[in-house]
Amino acid sequence: MLDSHLLAALAAPDLTGLPRQELLYKRLKAAILDGRLPGGLRLPASRQLAADLKMARNGVIHAYQQLLAEGFLTADRGGTRVTQLPGLARQPAMPSEAVTRGARPELSQRASDLAARAVTGNAWLPFSPGVPDLASFPWAAWSRALQRAWSGVTVRQLAYAEPGGEPALRQAVAHYLAARRGVVCTPAQVFLVAGSQMALDACARLLADPGDVVWLENPGYPAARNTMLAAGLTAVPVTVDECGMAPSPSLWETRPPRLIYLTPSHQYPMGSVLSLSRRLDFLQKSASTASWLIEDDYDCEFQHLRHSRRPLPAMQGLHPAAAVVYVGTFSKLLYPGLRIAYMVVPPWAVGSIGEGIAALYRGGLAIEQQALATLLENGTLTRHERRMAPIYRGRQQVLREALTEAFGTSATITGGDAGLHLTLHLVNGPPDVAVAKHAAALGVVVRPLSEYAVQVPGQQRLNGLVLGYGMVDAGQIPALVQRLAAAVSRAA
Ligand SMILES: Cc1ncc(COP(=O)(O)O)c(C=O)c1O
Repeated sequence: MLDSHLLAALAAPDLTGLPRQELLYKRLKAAILDGRLPGGLRLPASRQLAADLKMARNGVIHAYQQLLAEGFLTADRGGTRVTQLPGLARQPAMPSEAVTRGARPELSQRASDLAARAVTGNAWLPFSPGVPDLASFPWAAWSRALQRAWSGVTVRQLAYAEPGGEPALRQAVAHYLAARRGVVCTPAQVFLVAGSQMALDACARLLADPGDVVWLENPGYPAARNTMLAAGLTAVPVTVDECGMAPSPSLWETRPPRLIYLTPSHQYPMGSVLSLSRRLDFLQKSASTASWLIEDDYDCEFQHLRHSRRPLPAMQGLHPAAAVVYVGTFSKLLYPGLRIAYMVVPPWAVGSIGEGIAALYRGGLAIEQQALATLLENGTLTRHERRMAPIYRGRQQVLREALTEAFGTSATITGGDAGLHLTLHLVNGPPDVAVAKHAAALGVVVRPLSEYAVQVPGQQRLNGLVLGYGMVDAGQIPALVQRLAAAVSRAA
């Protein structure tokens, strides 16, 4: 009944170590799909096939039953037959060659654009930007808080979360932001999200429509740009100077924005602080043009201002009813892999943004959020912050000195009033992309500054390196900077 070739194929020894009944099932299925067993063909009785294949009858019955259940075989009084698939009676159900050689759909244009901007790998090596000192994190307190959260877990916490997230953490974040950043909000305005990236995605999708204009700092945070472009928004790069984003007055008329993305406390990556007069100007002009401000306060916890200057509080607090979405993250205070961040939305937008978030995403991580609330409330995170700030400041100082010694006047440094990175400008130096490649070969991760910028005709091309010092021990910094200097020489 089965031709001899097929029988030989079914009986062939297995190299994968699968049980024989599993193997028979797979081989029969493959033969049906590629047409070697055509629709309507009657298969041998299980006893017969078992004898031909020298295997237990039970194994054949098991394989037949599985194929019957999946619809590849049918059984009636006349025996077991290959199912006659409608319209495919005389041809293979799934000619494998046609599938292999057939036209493959392309990924979207958006996916290829994004692929060119992907930043991957080595996010834990020196001087990878944006990573805190993971070894110094208060693991014991964190694991105790997690254990406590688990021991009190409720059924609600195991289901999909409410759009805003765990109430205890929303409350703790509202208190923390009021005390530390001058943010004026109620817990209901706080939405917990899976990283700032999700907050930016929600802003792009809920506050603007495809084609709307978003102003982005240039240079700026590449992930913000990617998110905005992926949502179909039209990105307008706006120059950054030593006082932050600096739009020309005419830009408000020629390219009125729907969204403006800002990193006011420590511009990423240049490090400038958005001046008070610019903050007020943005608030006023965005109110008159009905545009949204996204305030990304990504590294606000660690302020390193010298000469007893005090950090500027968040823009949100200047006009708590303005159309500002304040975004912050626990990636720097705890660890980036945690994926817990928050967005604070205006009081009048709580309902509609909450509905949008509920329609777009599924929240979770209630246990981690509960544990985090405990650490905020019992002061552990504030103590951690106080302990780490001088350590980071010290690392920054050592990095500054080592860079100045290695590069002298051939390079300048910007940033450092907050956060965990410095930006080194190699104005007349070799191309930063080449330097980064050589540095990677020497075990040093640096991000080329040019990759943060959109080249605008008539403007000087940025060339430099963004250096994260968060997880690099101060003692190692001078030797690592020597390697960096070697990479610059090799690239020259
Ligand atoms: C400007 C900016 N925003 C936000 C983040 C943090 O993002 P997330 O919360 O997704 O870890 C970073 C990380 O380096 C950043 O540089």
